[in-house]
Amino acid sequence: MRHLMSPLDFSVEELDQLLNLANDIEANPKKYAHACDGKKLATLFYEPSTRTRLSFEAAMMNLGGNVLGFSSADSSSASKGESVADTIRMVACYADICAMRHPKEGAPLVASLHSPIPVINAGDGGHQHPTQTLTDLLTIRTLKGRLNNLTIGLCGDLKFGRTVHSLINALVRYTGIRFILISPEELRVPSYIREDVLRKKNIEFEEVERLEDALPKLDLLYMTRVQKERFFNEEDYVRMKDFYILDRKKMELAPKDMLVLHPLPRVNEISVEVDDDPRAVYFKQAQFGVYARMALILTLLEVKVC
Ligand code: CP
Repeated sequence: MRHLMSPLDFSVEELDQLLNLANDIEANPKKYAHACDGKKLATLFYEPSTRTRLSFEAAMMNLGGNVLGFSSADSSSASKGESVADTIRMVACYADICAMRHPKEGAPLVASLHSPIPVINAGDGGHQHPTQTLTDLLTIRTLKGRLNNLTIGLCGDLKFGRTVHSLINALVRYTGIRFILISPEELRVPSYIREDVLRKKNIEFEEVERLEDALPKLDLLYMTRVQKERFFNEEDYVRMKDFYILDRKKMELAPKDMLVLHPLPRVNEISVEVDDDPRAVYFKQAQFGVYARMALILTLLEVKVC
């Protein structure tokens, strides 16, 4: 039995197989419509979510399975003091697989250590968001045609943005990857990402503050929201929140084939006027999230569809 805590839990070959499966699911949805008949997915969300929880639920329903769960800690017995370890023991009596989001880094890992069913990390604090990474890799590979030889701009809250941390960890395993890390000084990537991931693996990267300087060089721009919920005080958040706003004028600086991704939710960092630009693929990206999660559920439940 396997869990998914980090994108590194899959080898590059396994990731390739999972993305191939996701592409096949998109092309042949009927083939998979009963693959999980009789199976149940539990979504244990101790933190708010729209895309991750609903796309997990849609994914299981598309596979013929059922879903159960909670969408906030307040509506579960966590509010009475129940531990994550006890909760997963209970949930394993009711479901075959579980997706867990938690504000504390490492909480899904703790659950996995006590779980007789596969546990998927659906986002843990400012740490990792591996299923968003599967979504991002699927979007990039499908729309750009490759995961190698890319210059990727990561922009915004690189300190608290768990999607960024997971994506960097996953992409450094491909060849010819170069990052431009675009953030204000206070929101730079954590030093463990800079030193233990990028420098250790000799990945080419630069850190800049101005989005305008990076735009002409990019194959992909990955925008992120400033993570309000991770700030210690409101004043700092207010000062940072509109640091970057991608608008139509800035998009004129970007190559004609650059793609704009965003894990969403968006606040102000991408102006709505950019939504009609064919390079803006963030809503398509959210759709790819359903196929990626369907492929993940099949993989972890070891369901084969011929
Ligand atoms: N991308 C993402 O994790 O969105 P939600 O917070 O809505 O799940």
